[in-house]
Amino acid sequence: ELSPIDKAKFVAAKRAADYVEDGMRVGLGTGSTAAWLVRCIGEMVRNDGLRIKGVPTSTRTAELARDVGIDVISLDEAKWLDLTIDGADEFDGDLNLIKGGGGALLQEKIVATASDQMIVIADVGKEVETLGAFPLPVEVIPFGWQTTQALVEETLISMDVLGRSSSLRMNGARPFVTDEGNHILDLYLNRIGNARQLSLVLNQMPGVVENGLFIDICDAVVIGYGDGRVEVRD
Ligand code: A5P
Repeated sequence: ELSPIDKAKFVAAKRAADYVEDGMRVGLGTGSTAAWLVRCIGEMVRNDGLRIKGVPTSTRTAELARDVGIDVISLDEAKWLDLTIDGADEFDGDLNLIKGGGGALLQEKIVATASDQMIVIADVGKEVETLGAFPLPVEVIPFGWQTTQALVEETLISMDVLGRSSSLRMNGARPFVTDEGNHILDLYLNRIGNARQLSLVLNQMPGVVENGLFIDICDAVVIGYGDGRVEVRD
């Protein structure tokens, strides 16, 4: 028996798997919700003879995809994708997102941007009026990360956000290291008034590689409820 939250994630993933068609090149997201999707697609490959190529967005997802029997290729082998399905940490009414809670935002954004269609799968608890309650992940290169952090906090003063503190994401006693060998700063903003502008400003700073705001990238959100209902927002 699944808990309500896991049930919500599962039914969203299951519904989104309907979008996957034979012959497609599919971007595979990262996180607990995306893991359900990868398992669903794996079943379709093994039981229904579905033929797809999967492009994972993290080493974790690559491992799971191979385990369940999905034919895994790199983004450069695929060149372009028909569809990407991924989780999110928050989504708003315009289908803009915060991602990166799992630390894979850089590959996730590259893969989503290289896709004809991006579908988010999420439990209803991820829906927000305004983005920013979830700390915004920002991927920074290790060189001079403290200087980059100071610059980021300094810059936030002039931005339309409520908070401006940040912390280096840790993995036990050591800084968390992404698949690309970088670190992550989590920004405690509470409320992001102008997500588009914030995203542009952050990405312009030296030392910042990418941020977790996904603006105008997502085409539809498949929302799962704890009682098994599913709703599609597009
Ligand atoms: C991974 O880097 C994130 O973008 C995930 O998509 C996000 O954290 C959602 O994860 P869950 O599905 O586990 O909530």
